[in-house]
Amino acid sequence: MGNFRIIHADIYTPLGNEAVKGTAMGRLHSIKDGEVEITDGIISYVGPTRSDVDSPAVDAMGRVVLPGFVDSHTHLVFGGYRPEEFMWRMRGDSYMSIMERGGGIVNTMKATREASSDELEEKTRRFIDRMAEMGVTTVEGKSGYGLDVETEMKQLEVMERINNDPERKVDIATTYLGAHAVPPEYKDRAEEYIDMMINDVLPEVKKRSLAENCDVFCEKGVFSVEQSRRLLNAAMRLGFGIKIHADEIVTTGGAELAGELKALSADHLLHASDNGIKAMADNGVVATLLPLTAFTLREPYARGREMIDSGCAVALATDLNPGSCCSGSIPLTFALACIYMGLSVEEAITAMTLNGAAAIGCAASIGSIETGKLGDLVMLDSDTPAILPYYTGMNSVAMTVKRGKVTYRNN
Ligand code: NIG
Ligand code: FE
Repeated sequence: MGNFRIIHADIYTPLGNEAVKGTAMGRLHSIKDGEVEITDGIISYVGPTRSDVDSPAVDAMGRVVLPGFVDSHTHLVFGGYRPEEFMWRMRGDSYMSIMERGGGIVNTMKATREASSDELEEKTRRFIDRMAEMGVTTVEGKSGYGLDVETEMKQLEVMERINNDPERKVDIATTYLGAHAVPPEYKDRAEEYIDMMINDVLPEVKKRSLAENCDVFCEKGVFSVEQSRRLLNAAMRLGFGIKIHADEIVTTGGAELAGELKALSADHLLHASDNGIKAMADNGVVATLLPLTAFTLREPYARGREMIDSGCAVALATDLNPGSCCSGSIPLTFALACIYMGLSVEEAITAMTLNGAAAIGCAASIGSIETGKLGDLVMLDSDTPAILPYYTGMNSVAMTVKRGKVTYRNN
């Protein structure tokens, strides 16, 4: 695979193999005039630029180099789009009222069932190209638009096919989200749907290594705390990491459940209670915040500042999906996190790198610039990391490097 070197870089990175909690998120390790060397896809040197090595190198000319971004919450494999629902919401309909009248997730379920694997793969690859341009080197991808065995598998297989491509620009961490909605064929039989997932789908997904993690939409009117607990306990017994869509629309107790089960992450958390925040902090649950979704749903932002000050490890992700938030914008995520949730630029960087990696169970191999980790880097077109939120909603990435290969270069 060969070597990649970048020299004269202003390097900023969190350190370690686990999520950084609380205000320590704001303390990045920095190296002025630094160098990173990647050998066969793995970081083999980080430190001051060496003058005694003369292998070819990219000259960063003092620009900022960070770990590749980890977008740890997306629903990137789906059929169709739902622009009409977006317009209904602009006129005042709520996300839940659209879901209750048969739109929402079930709308995309129909389109995803109809789509061929090739169609889904091509669409997913287009998203991945855009992600690489914005500095993403790992993305989490959920199933959850099939809600039947065949289509859930189809979504997971599309991600597996992309991961098997040696030229892929982004690695996909896969999550089974069969519990995204109760499918029409199980109407009023949510318990039976959960039994089916526990008995038929989860063991098969595990056997075929199609997903690393298991997620549930724990929300009033979708899956209750009790139902979520039952499913996630079964998933844990099979060896899945667990994640929860928690307290997105109303306070449901999802953050508390995440603490009780020591989940990898609880996500959204717009309406997380004080007890829920404490439960996450006490139990090492990554609080994954998705400010683009609050923005597009016109909801109040999650209490990111308070969560960090309470000792939580916070991650940031986009939530790219066809419904609540049809955006995978990394620049806008940084801007909203800093402007509206009170994160410092350094905290937001930790949230988009190491803490995102921890939220998908990958902090030992990605998320920081340290020897032995994957050679995933992003270079900004600036000598200050402040460009990330300051250049509001616009891309400041000059180069993205995945496993030592350049996947995007702007100049
Ligand atoms: O994270 N809330 C549940 N799931 C997605 C939305 C999915 C959709 O609307 O298609 C979310 O917001
Ligand atoms: Fe989501």
